[in-house]
Amino acid sequence: MAENKEIGAPIGVFDSGYGGLTILRDIKQRLPQYDYLYLGDNARAPYGNRSFDVVYEFTLQAVEYLFSRGCRLVILGCNTASAKALRSIQQRDLPRIAPSRRVLGVIRPTVEVLGSMSKSGKIGVMGTRGTIQSHSYDMEMAKIAPGIELFSQACPMWVPLIENKEYDQPGADYFVKKYVDMLMAQCPDIDTILLACTHYPLLADKIAQYLPSGVKLVSQGPIVSESLADYLLRHPEIESLCSRGGTVEYLTTECGGNFGELASVFLGEQVEAQHITL
Ligand code: DGL
Repeated sequence: MAENKEIGAPIGVFDSGYGGLTILRDIKQRLPQYDYLYLGDNARAPYGNRSFDVVYEFTLQAVEYLFSRGCRLVILGCNTASAKALRSIQQRDLPRIAPSRRVLGVIRPTVEVLGSMSKSGKIGVMGTRGTIQSHSYDMEMAKIAPGIELFSQACPMWVPLIENKEYDQPGADYFVKKYVDMLMAQCPDIDTILLACTHYPLLADKIAQYLPSGVKLVSQGPIVSESLADYLLRHPEIESLCSRGGTVEYLTTECGGNFGELASVFLGEQVEAQHITL
């Protein structure tokens, strides 16, 4: 891919749909000086129950699209894509298609700080079926803090509730309680629960209602934004190519109007999205 070293470009943030907005919101707050290009593949969301090969193929298409728009750095604001596609993209595709560009995920930075958040050393991880079945969190935690015990719970109905705008409706309570109960039944000493899907912060209020008191819920936005700030400090060669206009542009593979409506609720500001095809 041709590089134009003089011209800066936005930082790309990708998710299967709306979930990455919970990451973008914190990144914007922490690093407001940069430009961002958000891409939600809403037309093909959710990714959570899709096969490894399909998640990889869709994620690579999105990354290549963001590269074609100039992004030097792309954040996969999606656990499912981070679990199923990131390693192949970093190791196999980047050297071939864009050796000087970078793609980062959300799992590694989360695991780096998660262990220190628990007193009991027993942590719940709630994510999509794809993320949980990949065992990515177990493998990373075993490397970084082997003393921490993780208890995983797939929550396949949660993303559909959010993508279909049912997350704050009474019908959502049934599936929220169901998966919280299933997780807590695995170990009553869990004192910290990671929302290992970037959509789930939208259900955080409901989840908290069904948790035993004292159990802490952890969202990834603050963790990923802090980790990105640190990454940019350590990588001036990438940082210097990130343009600094404080703007955000939103792209979706669905209809722009639909996306903007719910995205505005998530972000607390008016959002207009442009439709694109991958
Ligand atoms: N936000 C994605 C994640 O963090 C959602 C996955 C989906 O599309 O099912 O895993």
